[in-house]
Amino acid sequence: MLSGGMTECIATDAVWGAWRALHNQESRTPQGFAARLAASLDLGIDWIDHADIYDNGAVETLHGEALAQLNGQQRQRLRIISKCGVRFESPGQPGVRVAHYRSDAGFIRAQAEASLKRLGHEHIDLYLLHRPDYLMQVEETARALETLVSDGLIGSIGVSNFSIHQFDELARACRHPIAAQQIEISVLANQALDSGMLEQARRHRAAILAWSPLGGGALFREDRPLNALLARIAEREQSDMASIALAWLKRIPGPVIPVLGTMSLTRLQQQIEGMRRVQLDAQDWYEILEAARGARVP
Ligand SMILES: NC(=O)c1ccc[n+]([C@@H]2O[C@H](COP(=O)([O-])OP(=O)(O)OC[C@H]3O[C@@H](n4cnc5c(N)ncnc54)[C@H](OP(=O)(O)O)[C@@H]3O)[C@@H](O)[C@H]2O)c1
Repeated sequence: MLSGGMTECIATDAVWGAWRALHNQESRTPQGFAARLAASLDLGIDWIDHADIYDNGAVETLHGEALAQLNGQQRQRLRIISKCGVRFESPGQPGVRVAHYRSDAGFIRAQAEASLKRLGHEHIDLYLLHRPDYLMQVEETARALETLVSDGLIGSIGVSNFSIHQFDELARACRHPIAAQQIEISVLANQALDSGMLEQARRHRAAILAWSPLGGGALFREDRPLNALLARIAEREQSDMASIALAWLKRIPGPVIPVLGTMSLTRLQQQIEGMRRVQLDAQDWYEILEAARGARVP
């Protein structure tokens, strides 16, 4: 089924991703996390990305604790993304002896309810299947997701890391549109440009949410020819490398919406401002692609 319109579901030019919150001294406290939620809202970014597995639910719990620091208007503006489906061996997941995925109805319902309780919200705006489950019984999964919508627990249904065929199969089975596909896409991980996924998302009017838009920080850890080019363009634009990498993503038709993972308030501000201000022309864009791939386009 084709979507009724991406902008109805996720009208934003960026999302803030909470995955790394407990790995930073400042964002790991309710006050620090609330400060990042507030900064994000101040920048016009209402959408926050979570998952049941981020530190075994502790990041969602932190979000719930941080809500008390926000005023009613801020709390109302927050739009929540969360995900379920990934299981791995960890003290927080008793009984799991081998990493696997789940998409059965009972599991989906239980995970959504648990996330809502931890987050302190009555509603998850966009709920994603985190990874494709090779054992998915597609009709059962589709009905489970539809029921979450009709019961008001979630607003929209999405997927993450699905192939084109896996997306299609679920989209065909589901009475609601697949409103988003969250995938890794960045200057460093640019395979989706050729995979057909972007075209599929556009056809379904599904948002493409780009996880690790800065390669999870890898962009800054290694010195590559790409870095010199990004630095040169950044100097020309009076900006920084991260913003140029994000402006490159934003240039891809779709649109592609980055899920920013920084826990630094200064970087969050810089990245949003730079991403919005810098306009790359087609030659900049292809020069960056060639530098990233280490090969000329044919
Ligand atoms: N669906 C999925 O399978 C999946 C997988 C992975 C992630 N995600 C989602 O995507 C979100 C973003 O992923 P990500 O955190 O990997 O995104 P990212 O924005 O690519 O990377 C963030 C990392 O880069 C560092 N960084 C950012 N700017 C920097 C700079 N100028 N210099 C040096 N380091 C810099 C950050 O450190 P500081 O905090 O110090 O700035 C942080 O460690 C996650 O929070 C999560 O919500 C989803």
